[in-house]
Amino acid sequence: MKKIGMLTSGGDCQALNAAMRGVVKGLSENVDELEVYGFLNGYKGLIYGDYRLLTSADFSGILTKGGTILGSSRQPFKQMRVPDENGLDKVKAMKSTYFKLNLDCLVILGGNGTEKTANLLREEGLNIIHLPKTIDNDIYGTDVTFGFQSAINIATEAIDCIHTTAASHNRVFIVEVMGHKVGWLTLYAGVAGGADIILLPEIPYDVEKVIEAINKRTKAGKGFTILAVAEGAISKEDAALSKKEYKEKVAKRKYPSVSYEIADRIMKETGVEVRVTVPGHTQRGGSPCPYDRVLCTRLGSAAAKAIMDEDYGYMIAMVNGKTKRVPLGEVAGKLKTVDPNCQMIKEAKRIGISFGE
Ligand code: F6P
Repeated sequence: MKKIGMLTSGGDCQALNAAMRGVVKGLSENVDELEVYGFLNGYKGLIYGDYRLLTSADFSGILTKGGTILGSSRQPFKQMRVPDENGLDKVKAMKSTYFKLNLDCLVILGGNGTEKTANLLREEGLNIIHLPKTIDNDIYGTDVTFGFQSAINIATEAIDCIHTTAASHNRVFIVEVMGHKVGWLTLYAGVAGGADIILLPEIPYDVEKVIEAINKRTKAGKGFTILAVAEGAISKEDAALSKKEYKEKVAKRKYPSVSYEIADRIMKETGVEVRVTVPGHTQRGGSPCPYDRVLCTRLGSAAAKAIMDEDYGYMIAMVNGKTKRVPLGEVAGKLKTVDPNCQMIKEAKRIGISFGE
């Protein structure tokens, strides 16, 4: 008999359901009796004891379904040790739910913040398995996270669509891509979509260099320019500020996001028309792409094996094409960023893509 709890926390993405299906199928095929408790809306469900006892039917037909059948919410790690509005100790409450249900383990699907809380619960004595979810691909210790490839497809399609309209107008187009503080999604979608200029948080940009790149294209007879701009892109000037100063500056910014600020600068300095497109949360939506379905089936199945082995305290990662148990204590709290000197960036530069440096 195995009793497992499961929750999905933080921003959702495609393939959360596919990953949970992998875990439950892997266990139900190999364990005599299985009870699965699904905690609703992330850690909230664990804190307040809000759960559903799930059956295998709940995991049937969900391989291709986007979102999460359990719901999700953001519960910042920093707030976990802070009592709620009624004075409830959240960590104590989560442990109490876990022990009351007599769980063998808790399977937690989420990104960096979620992973930090998962590690905290491990330190508090709970049996934890973490599965790395996020369209941002910024989880340290795994080559890839699920959601990333599906989001690349959507962001690339947005750039593709802009390409056809761009070809009809002499304009500059900016497509703003999600990714929080890292540039993985923008880099991959930018290259896949044939963007001319790619701006990433890891490579602070100089707007004059961006304008130079646009002018170079115009001189070469190209009527339009496409920029893929990460939502976390930052100018050289802003990168030189302290965290506090930068936060204050962003709070006072009159633009909805960095792309609009860049657009304004380009328009003012060149007189060229600039349009901004923000695909936003569409990048997290819809059904998972085949790559993510395979990834999640493998990660889910590998998680089931770890549970059968009663080997807990790991993120189930994908490293060099193989699933791997990576100790949570070694990776929680670390961010995987794009190396500005990596091969892919060098290759992109070689074919003329500007990074605005
Ligand atoms: O972490 C995933 C992500 O989609 C980021 O790319 C983005 O910055 C953030 O979540 C948006 O968060 P929310 O859905 O809370 O607005």
